Amino acid sequence: MSDAAVTIEEREANLKGIGCSRKRTEDARFIQGKGNYVDDVKLPGELFGCFVRSPYGHARIKSINAEAALAVPGVKAVLTAADLKPLSLHYMPTLAGDVQAVLAEEKVLFQNQEVAFVVAEDRYIAADAAELVEVDYEALPVLVDPFKSMDADAPVLREDLAGKTEGAHGARKHHNHIFTWEVGDKDGTDQIFDKAEVTIKELISYHRVHPSPLETCAIVASMDKIKGELTIYGTFQAPHVVRTVVSLLSTIPEHKIHVIAPDIGGGFGNKVGVYPGYVCAIVASIVLGVPVKWVEDRMENLSATAFARDYHMTAELAATKDGKITGLRAHVLADHGAFDACADPSKWPAGFFNICTGSYDIPTAHVEVDGVYTNKAPGGVAYRCSFRVTEAAYMLERAMDVLAKKLGMDPVELRIKNFIQPHQFPYQSALGWEYDSGDYPTAMKKAMEATNYAALRAEQKEKRAAFDRGETRELMGIGVAFFTEIVGAGPTRNCDILGVGMFDSCEIRIHPTGAAIARLGTKSQGQAHETTYAQILATEIGISADNIMIEEGNTDTAPYGLGTYGSRSTPVAGAAAARVGRKIRDKAKKIAAHLLEVSDDDLEFEVDRFKVKGLPEKQKTMQEIAWAAYNNLPEGMEPGLEAVDYYDPPNMTYPFGAYICVLDIDADTGVSKVRRFYALDDCGTRINPMVIEGQVHGGLTEAFAIAMGQEISYDEGGNVMGASFMDYFVPTAVETPVWETDHTVTPSPHHPIGAKGVGESPNVGGVPAFSNAVNDAFGHLDITHIQMPHDHWRTWKVCEKLGLTR
Ligand code: CDP
Repeated sequence: MSDAAVTIEEREANLKGIGCSRKRTEDARFIQGKGNYVDDVKLPGELFGCFVRSPYGHARIKSINAEAALAVPGVKAVLTAADLKPLSLHYMPTLAGDVQAVLAEEKVLFQNQEVAFVVAEDRYIAADAAELVEVDYEALPVLVDPFKSMDADAPVLREDLAGKTEGAHGARKHHNHIFTWEVGDKDGTDQIFDKAEVTIKELISYHRVHPSPLETCAIVASMDKIKGELTIYGTFQAPHVVRTVVSLLSTIPEHKIHVIAPDIGGGFGNKVGVYPGYVCAIVASIVLGVPVKWVEDRMENLSATAFARDYHMTAELAATKDGKITGLRAHVLADHGAFDACADPSKWPAGFFNICTGSYDIPTAHVEVDGVYTNKAPGGVAYRCSFRVTEAAYMLERAMDVLAKKLGMDPVELRIKNFIQPHQFPYQSALGWEYDSGDYPTAMKKAMEATNYAALRAEQKEKRAAFDRGETRELMGIGVAFFTEIVGAGPTRNCDILGVGMFDSCEIRIHPTGAAIARLGTKSQGQAHETTYAQILATEIGISADNIMIEEGNTDTAPYGLGTYGSRSTPVAGAAAARVGRKIRDKAKKIAAHLLEVSDDDLEFEVDRFKVKGLPEKQKTMQEIAWAAYNNLPEGMEPGLEAVDYYDPPNMTYPFGAYICVLDIDADTGVSKVRRFYALDDCGTRINPMVIEGQVHGGLTEAFAIAMGQEISYDEGGNVMGASFMDYFVPTAVETPVWETDHTVTPSPHHPIGAKGVGESPNVGGVPAFSNAVNDAFGHLDITHIQMPHDHWRTWKVCEKLGLTR
């Protein structure tokens, strides 16, 4: 079967391995409308659930009367907290060590909170009947401002926690306080600030937003009472964890629970946690013995399932007069809403916020985060970011510009002056992280050259003069952001979810013909895992990616893994894929030695085959070896060609990037136009450059949306604003700027193929780049920080305040 006439280049091209811009294999079904999403799953006899939700932000429930709803033909059941309480399911544990009401018992704590679950023959009957459930509420004072949550007279929100002075993360100092998390050297930092030549202090808020994936959250639960087995189809970013949690809550043995996450239409952190809709559908299916489906609508998604950010960060920097940063101090007020349902590894109540020293060699730092309850929806998920990294990067990159302005320095010059230098890696940060690798000066230099940064600044100077002369109405802003990400959680020694360590896995079975199926513990939501994992395996094993099928999301078949979020797929499961490939290669080598009648040591691997050193005509392709694995093995070797790898990373990976945004703002209307956006990313070894470009485009579009308009806000009465796409900004191709992408490659020294994650980098770096550009447009005027989002109306208000409007 070996074909020595084929050149090595042709064989490499045939492999479609690491570094190849292979077309996305999954797109064939997606672009033809042949994806299989949860709502496409239709089980015989399935019923539909619909919630009765609270119109109040804070109210006591005096009574619930479901009689009229139950009388509607087609309605099968109405669940309330009274039905769940005997099962101890009216509250469920959250990922953050709190509990969350599945159905409100005595009080509602945020608008659109789940109060009752109506189950009917179709979703229209269920929705109509939900309108007929009579709930008698007594309105209570509403708390929406996190800065007032710990006032002495602030209303008590969580009566269920009355008298509880210890939370999951230490002492609670107020009835609306969740935790205080502190890291760094407090005294040392205070001393640095006391003697600093220059300091800045700024309240930098990152407003509440929502990941708003195209497909909302959904589940179909099907209990087979005879077998005692529960099958669940759901929009789960982490299906294995869902199975474990459902088993613990329901006491159904884990092997009798089958969790399947089919195609998922975007997750961005929204589909990590467990929601009341999942619990209610499962309970209803267990009670009624038929499948029950719940699919939330857009307003439910935006107003009730996990929000992101809502971090209010007071940042301080200390520096010398010539711009060397000597210390960082930050206090964060974290608004977690009514329940602490933040999706972070268990030991990290503020996620990885302590990455906030960023790309700079800041010797001393101290951070304190206070989490508080308010009458808002619970959540606090990593919306396309790694556990509060985007908040940290935003705070620091804004603070850098505030400092640069105070020092009269160019923002790029200040950054370059403080960069961690290439020789300092592995770098130990003041707040406890060990950065694996980086070359920041090279990336910054490349970005400056590509955008002709010096010319841009010269143009801005001229434009400002022209504005003053009345020759233009436009203000030009140049926004620079240089970020360092931290992605790839584990290691299991300090990262777990509900006690399960954050490792990940890959299993591969190579069939006699050399075609293979590989399964992983992660779950793609659009990131092209079917395409790119196959590329890693192709390079490692020497079988074309076209002959390797990738499967994820079925807990019956895939090895246990902790799922996909926080750009952990490549750093963790991608590493498992590389290692599983090496295990296969080790066995294949022994088979090849047997077939070629030489010793293992006489063989060398070349693209897709083993060759005898010095006798290149003596060779066996991987396809030949796969065949032999089923019929011609060395004495005593097990038949078959299979392997599994569970990978616990030794460290996280630290991708980084240099972003530059150029925009113009019309001073009379506040309308901003992004003229240029340049994004240089370094994610180590690049598996698929085309997929990376797609990831960067998507992440930048979300960053643009967040910085320039997305917002979930609440009025004083606790009414949620921005809960529909009429009010919540999701940019279309019309508004979206053109992206220029670029890269450098600094491999991770501890990852088997040197790869780091990339999916969320553009969100992390993009938001400060946009915000810095808007702020920079007013950089010559008497204003230090403009809060996001920078929609046209708010920007116009800034122009008006500064007396710029005509
Ligand atoms: O965990 P998630 O899939 O969201 O993020 P990721 O690990 O950053 O991967 C996103 C996509 O980019 C995957 O298809 C990866 O294979 C691809 N990628 C790549 O081609 N090269 C890298 N160095 C990192 C990611």
